[in-house]
Amino acid sequence: MKKIFLVTAITVTLGATSVVADERERDPVKDAIAARQAAFTLMAANIGPMGAMMKGMKPFDKEEFARRAANLEALGAMPWEFFIPGSDKGHTEAKPEVWSKAEDYKAKADDFQKEAAALVQAVQGGDEKAIAEQFGKTAKSCKACHKEFKEKDKH
Ligand code: HEC
Repeated sequence: MKKIFLVTAITVTLGATSVVADERERDPVKDAIAARQAAFTLMAANIGPMGAMMKGMKPFDKEEFARRAANLEALGAMPWEFFIPGSDKGHTEAKPEVWSKAEDYKAKADDFQKEAAALVQAVQGGDEKAIAEQFGKTAKSCKACHKEFKEKDKH
């Protein structure tokens, strides 16, 4: 029993040490850029199939649409905290205006979150015309921000 405990304790300690070492080598700016890009990538991965349903390229599946709308709302809260100071440089498509016009940027982020929340509401309401309308507004709010604050694909 004691031996097993000791071996476990050593393993856990070694494991913890290497995690700490990893943390020390990490670059917080790179991590922040990767985190926000990951959130945006997942937003796109969820809105894509919804768009396909709206355009009739994929059959409308209310359950899937509702799940993706909920995902979009949850993901839509995530990118913003990762626009940390210093993360305007590096492997990023964020324009300098994200920082120099921070209030406008935040307003665009808020707009998007409002539209995504309204989309979840519309889906709960169940009216397909209202859903389509609100989907259009939500997708537009992505584009409105990109137009001002995101470089055209650099990489
Ligand atoms: C308030 C502004 C804003 C909103 C709203 C917004 N984006 Fe973005 N998006 C950005 C910025 C800035 C970047 C560049 C991030 C970077 O490269 O550091 C970006 C990057 C992306 C990327 C590229 C990610 C990568 O891997 O480089 C995708 C895809 C994307 N956005 C999709 C979306 C979709 C889909 C929506 C709406 C559902 C959306 N965005 C809403 C500002 C926004």
